[in-house]
Amino acid sequence: MYHQRPRAHPTPRRRSPLRAVPGRATPAPCSILDLAAAVVGKADAAHPADSVLRVELRNQRGLPREAAGEVSRAVFAYYRWLGWLEPDAPLRERLRQALELRQRFGAAPHGFSDADLLERAVPGWISGEMDVTARWARQLQTEPVLWLRARPGRGEELARKLGECESAGPGCPGEALRYAGSRDLFRTEAFQAGEFEVQDLHSQAVGWLCAPRPGETWWDACAGEGGKTLHLSDLMQNQGLIWASDRAEWRLRRLKQRAARACAFNYRAVSWSGGPGLPTRTKFDGVLLDAPCSNIGTWHRNPHARWTLSVQDVQELGRVQQGLLAAVATAVKPGGRLFYAVCTLTRAETVEVVAAFARQCPQFTPLPRPDPFDRARGEHAEHWLLPADRPGNGMFVAGWQRAA
Ligand SMILES: C[S@@+](CC[C@H](N)C(=O)[O-])C[C@H]1O[C@@H](n2cnc3c(N)ncnc32)[C@H](O)[C@@H]1O
Repeated sequence: MYHQRPRAHPTPRRRSPLRAVPGRATPAPCSILDLAAAVVGKADAAHPADSVLRVELRNQRGLPREAAGEVSRAVFAYYRWLGWLEPDAPLRERLRQALELRQRFGAAPHGFSDADLLERAVPGWISGEMDVTARWARQLQTEPVLWLRARPGRGEELARKLGECESAGPGCPGEALRYAGSRDLFRTEAFQAGEFEVQDLHSQAVGWLCAPRPGETWWDACAGEGGKTLHLSDLMQNQGLIWASDRAEWRLRRLKQRAARACAFNYRAVSWSGGPGLPTRTKFDGVLLDAPCSNIGTWHRNPHARWTLSVQDVQELGRVQQGLLAAVATAVKPGGRLFYAVCTLTRAETVEVVAAFARQCPQFTPLPRPDPFDRARGEHAEHWLLPADRPGNGMFVAGWQRAA
């Protein structure tokens, strides 16, 4: 099993093992492993592998896109298969083992038993915090799906333009598309023209559940870079107003850039630290708290996080969420709606937050819970959007209405 060595991040930029060579199309596989090893060597709890990878690849000017893709795949395979690697083998050898395991699993997933996956794909402490199923552990080892959200009514047109897109299936709005190609979508004309966002399928479901109406006033309290703000804006047909707040100014700057590209104008971005002093006295028709969480529901996309999170983080985040939910609830107008969403599956960050809220704020009644993927099925009993059911992030959503 993996043991994390606590250590400082090396500050001076090391000379990269793979320098761009003008005219050379594809670097040798050994260079790819060297570059992946450089990323793994620098990543730790304070420096997530995906951020280190981004910086390393940015430093490799002229590195062909396919080679960059191979480096990324090697880094992610390393963390995805870490539980199977020989801890004493040299790092390059472990990377090679990880790529081989990835290939073996892709070719014959049932060559790996449920028991083996349950034991090695996730850290042992997690089973004390949530229900860990073999289906989930298996899903964690597969390559993640890339989901797009086209602008309203433009799904078919976008699928034709980009190619290699599939709709999300019956019951899903046509705007949700699964992209199976290998183009750099951020460089496409369609992206630059604001015709779509990259957004996980279950994150899109949060917007559908909120179902804001044109002309209403909403607060997206932890708006971050605006993934859900932009979705709410589209659902509101750019009418009414969304207050979008976050404590990270840099995230709000990204939100504004994205909103400009998407021509979303019905929002106001404000800083909010998360404390009891709210950014406005406005009372809202709807409030969405897409709360900071342990992100366990995204472990298939970000396997490094499996090995850096702790039980203490989970417990602490549950407490933060309770505080944020109680704070934002005061801004819901009588008869208005409140939604709480997290991309995690632990009890402390989901049902326990909901139970604490029910005790603290009895003036809120739980809303009916339609299945966002099958409206005809009516209400379903749980708030979970599970990755084992659909290839999306693991999420939990709860909604209430304030007494009129
Ligand atoms: C799950 S992310 C939001 C993602 C965003 N809604 C989206 O769809 O793109 C949670 C956000 O909460 C913010 N945050 C973390 N702690 C906070 C706090 N104590 N108060 C307010 N915002 C906080 C983070 O900066 C982060 O942007």
